Amino acid sequence: MAADFARTELLPGVIERDEKEQFPKEQIRKMAGLGFLGMMVSSRYGGSGMDTLSYVLAMEEISRIDASASVCMSVNNSLVCWGLETYGTEEQKQKYLVPLARGEVLGAFLLSEPEAGSDATSQRTLAEDQGDHYLVNGTKNWITNAGSASVYLVMAQTDPSLGSRGINVLIVEKDSPGVTLGAKEHKMGIRGSDTHSVMFQDVRVPKENRIGENGFGFKFAMQTLAGGRIGIAAQALGIASGAYGLALEYSKQRKAFGKEISRHQAIQFKLADMATRIEAARLLVWKAAWHKDQQMDYGLSGSMAKVFASETAMWVTTEAVQVHGGYGYVKEYHVERLMRDAKITQIYEGTSEVQRIVISRAILK
Ligand code: CAA
Repeated sequence: MAADFARTELLPGVIERDEKEQFPKEQIRKMAGLGFLGMMVSSRYGGSGMDTLSYVLAMEEISRIDASASVCMSVNNSLVCWGLETYGTEEQKQKYLVPLARGEVLGAFLLSEPEAGSDATSQRTLAEDQGDHYLVNGTKNWITNAGSASVYLVMAQTDPSLGSRGINVLIVEKDSPGVTLGAKEHKMGIRGSDTHSVMFQDVRVPKENRIGENGFGFKFAMQTLAGGRIGIAAQALGIASGAYGLALEYSKQRKAFGKEISRHQAIQFKLADMATRIEAARLLVWKAAWHKDQQMDYGLSGSMAKVFASETAMWVTTEAVQVHGGYGYVKEYHVERLMRDAKITQIYEGTSEVQRIVISRAILK
């Protein structure tokens, strides 16, 4: 269903949406109707009740065609719905998770700040404890879905003297007084996705909107991101397999030196390496998803999947442009967009360097 949907609903207009930086609003609405926005949420809370393996299969197919749509899907599923279902109270689930899982509203995950990207414990956004509510002040940067979402999960520091143990995670409704949206970011890739900074000025957030115990916010972010990284790994895999499929087809049609370029060994070897790296990435992604489904530790396998799949995506898309030659450098052939889209998978939800920190810490422990 994901593959059919991507071909019939996402492919038409994908180049134009990228050029105009247009959020695929209508397409996301249809994805919600098909259950793609709350795939792993139990049916009790309005989700599709599927496992992580099903989710990464769908993510790969959607990302083969439109990574701007798949990042919206990924954030809503892995960062927002999963965090709420796993750690939220029953009241929070009824009020926020149900409409999010049904895709009636979208969610966003607000961790990054102008000076806290990889160094995520250095939160400057403050959530001052005022008894029955928190008063939130600060700025968040590069927030996916910020303009389209109405439910924000916001990480903010309540007690700086406690470092990462002083951070809380709060559910903030976007239309709360004091929340303002910064200008839309003009990005290299995933240009259809909706990325803004968000400013908070004296925003009152009731205590019942805190997820987990006081000071649980950083652990919440890390646990949630561990699963999110599997989703982004699947996105990177999809971008790579999309570009490989286009290069394969093109190589069978384009002729040079009297024969199809697929009959030249220079091209054959590129295709062989693309196929091999993609298969390796796919197995890492599936393994991490399976670990999560089996309630095994998936921090290490998720980071391995993410770093390998995102570096594969960058390499494969660059080679796919090369196979296309001059045609690969123009928009009509899709591979230049996939190459621009691939880059972000090495940056968001933990850069490749952050994944290597997580991996090396785990293997040296
Ligand atoms: N699960 C639970 N707790 C964890 C954890 C995990 N996976 N990882 C760390 N922690 C805990 C630690 O145990 C520690 O707790 P204690 O003090 O109680 O022992 C606490 O968190 C602090 O951990 P570290 O000392 O390891 O922190 P650090 O400063 O060394 O940072 C890091 C570690 C891995 C670099 C982390 O900061 C990190 O992952 N940074 C990247 C952040 C990131 O991925 N941002 C993405 C933004 S969201 C996004 O991109 C979404 C989007 O819109 C697409």
